[in-house]
Amino acid sequence: MPESIVAARSLHKTFPNAGGGDAIVLLDDLSLELAAGDTVAITGASGCGKSTLLNLLGTLDTPDSGSIEIMGERTDHLKEKALARIRSEMIGFVFQLHHLLPQLSALENVLLPTLARRDPAHRREVRERAENLLAAVGLSDRLCHRPDQLSGGERQRTAVARALINTPRLLLADEPTGALDERNAEGLVALLTQLALEDGLALVTVTHDPEVASQMETIFRLSGGKLSALNPSGSKS
Ligand SMILES: Nc1ncnc2c1ncn2[C@@H]1O[C@H](COP(=O)(O)OP(=O)(O)O)[C@@H](O)[C@H]1O
Ligand SMILES: [Mg+2]
Repeated sequence: MPESIVAARSLHKTFPNAGGGDAIVLLDDLSLELAAGDTVAITGASGCGKSTLLNLLGTLDTPDSGSIEIMGERTDHLKEKALARIRSEMIGFVFQLHHLLPQLSALENVLLPTLARRDPAHRREVRERAENLLAAVGLSDRLCHRPDQLSGGERQRTAVARALINTPRLLLADEPTGALDERNAEGLVALLTQLALEDGLALVTVTHDPEVASQMETIFRLSGGKLSALNPSGSKS
């Protein structure tokens, strides 16, 4: 059996209704488990809680009840420092807006998540890994370009390289192709699914694009706080 990468059990999440009135129920007894190599799309109407779910899976937010396990370790009683370590070692994030730092080059942006480790012997190794990752996403001749000197697709591929620099096991992508044209979107999704396959990552992609969703093994729709599989066989369409 492939190893479990992330397991969410019976998640409940509500937000207070800022306009007064009943709390907004976003997740209602929601469970989801991914093993190495699994690829999942989360679709659903705007505001249904997709980003909230992704943030919970990434330990950036906590559920009202229910639990999240990352690589078999329960996260619910961990302190922020331990959570930060899990995020930095196990989880890569790719967002719709790439969140690259504008004053840094592509290479420096990819190296950012490694700066917490001070070990100087490690430096040369991570720099090499960063260069290899940028090469793998087709950007070996863009290492010194700043974000404003890169195209939208190139910025997003830089963000993918950054998400992978610490060799995560779980890759969480929130509308990663939202700002890309069709051709760049296809390339980015092909890259993500290839990585999941080759490196045994678990990949969760939030998307409203059916083309993007169809590249994932399992497609879920989030509605009324519950996930339902749109392709119950789990087969790729
Ligand atoms: N921190 C928060 N406090 C209150 N309401 C929030 C908070 N974060 C999100 N929401 C509300 O929860 C709903 C779901 O948000 P989100 O998960 O971002 O939806 P999606 O990604 O599916 O578009 C939205 O209506 C949003 O306004
Ligand atoms: Mg969202």
